[in-house]
Amino acid sequence: MQGSNGNTGLEIAPAEGKLGVMLVGLGAVSTTFIAGVESVRRGLNRPIGSITQMSTIRLGKRTDHTTPLVKDFVSLAALEDLEFAAWDPIPDDAYESAKTCGVLKPEDVDPLADFLRGIRPMPAVFDKRYVKKLDGTNVKSAENKLELAEQLREDIRRFKEEKGCDRLVMVWAASTEVFMEPHEVHATVDSFEKAMAENHDAIAPSMVYAYAALKEGLPFANGAPNLTVDVPAMLELADEAGMPVCGKDFKTGQTLMKTILAPGLKARMLGLSGWFSTNILGNRDGEVLDDPESFKTKEESKLGVLEHILQPELYPELYGNIYHKVRINYYPPRGDNKEGWDSVDLFGWMGYPMQIKIDFLARDSILAAPIVLDLALFLDLAARAGFHGIQEWLSFFFKSPQVAPGLYPEHDLFIQQWKLKNTLRWLMGEEQITHLGTEYYADYR
Ligand SMILES: NC(=O)c1ccc[n+]([C@@H]2O[C@H](COP(=O)([O-])OP(=O)(O)OC[C@H]3O[C@@H](n4cnc5c(N)ncnc54)[C@H](O)[C@@H]3O)[C@@H](O)[C@H]2O)c1
Repeated sequence: MQGSNGNTGLEIAPAEGKLGVMLVGLGAVSTTFIAGVESVRRGLNRPIGSITQMSTIRLGKRTDHTTPLVKDFVSLAALEDLEFAAWDPIPDDAYESAKTCGVLKPEDVDPLADFLRGIRPMPAVFDKRYVKKLDGTNVKSAENKLELAEQLREDIRRFKEEKGCDRLVMVWAASTEVFMEPHEVHATVDSFEKAMAENHDAIAPSMVYAYAALKEGLPFANGAPNLTVDVPAMLELADEAGMPVCGKDFKTGQTLMKTILAPGLKARMLGLSGWFSTNILGNRDGEVLDDPESFKTKEESKLGVLEHILQPELYPELYGNIYHKVRINYYPPRGDNKEGWDSVDLFGWMGYPMQIKIDFLARDSILAAPIVLDLALFLDLAARAGFHGIQEWLSFFFKSPQVAPGLYPEHDLFIQQWKLKNTLRWLMGEEQITHLGTEYYADYR
């Protein structure tokens, strides 16, 4: 493969055959994702919000006018080649679950009923102690967590065989677990496996899935703020398996707005004294987050954003004293149609105060579904290109991007986008774009 700069891109195995997308959780996000892909495949809708399907990428100089679609530039699995599977402790098939979640209107779900009914959740690795507000009957049982992982691994192999998939990826789109901190048993694969065999509490269900995925050679994306693959043992396993991992917590709604707005205010050197964010939402996710322990996991993920974007250590006068508060309120009448309010207190020239009010009438799962698609396709690309371990270039999709130990996460949406596209250019041996406009400065040398 020869790029425009004469560099040879990486050897990337072609995206031939079927790609199986294995979803943990068959709730609002997963069913909206699956229904959306199927409706695009049937020509009923466009994949709006998906970078892999709709975004272009500029190659070479601005004067070259070369801007192919991302999906024509890098080799990605085609939507027609996707197969789906899911685990959930609630036994509803994808059609029933989509109806219960109520994200999509009946006129959008009913025409897809035949397809959606075919996706029935496999019994889950589930333990109520980690998601307190949920009960489920479709649950695996075993002597210990290592055996539970073995059962998941059998599910993975069976699905691959039955659907004739060539490659698989796993995406966590299940509930947010209680807040957990790294424990000594997470230090190495050996200590992790020993802890699984001993049913240690520090091994959450999400970790059992991630372990099974990596052991079976599947990339893993973490759409919730759970600890899951953010521990040394899982990264050791990802390296051993040669598989990519990424997380955490899909960037949608309020945090998306925050990472769009805050970089702009900072670019103009406007100060901030406070940022109050509150949400009302009434879906199952909202109910789970009503438990203080699950909320703490989410809160940690939402709070880190501003500090990393604004760099108060570099700009103490502007950002050294911000009061940042995030609330989530469970309010059933609102369903999946969350409302997120932000009240931003900023100051400008001569210290004069100003305010910005945002009232985002978001639809959570409508914003999350294309992220699931993009992560599945990009992780599959990463695996075929031989990338393994943490995929920082996918930070664009996450509230709380996973980074290598010792690095701080990049939260600014525009830097994240730049990194994503430059990684794709680099992968294909194309010149990376710096926006310097060197063609115009050439005479100065
Ligand atoms: N919707 C968004 O915009 C958004 C954004 C960021 C993160 N997330 C996260 O994505 C996840 C899914 O969100 P949602 O709105 O679809 O929630 P949801 O409650 O509708 O669906 C989650 C599903 O996961 C299942 N589940 C719980 N524990 C499980 C386990 N151990 N194994 C398998 N399934 C399990 C539940 O039964 C439920 O059906 C949540 O963690 C949420 O915090 C969502």
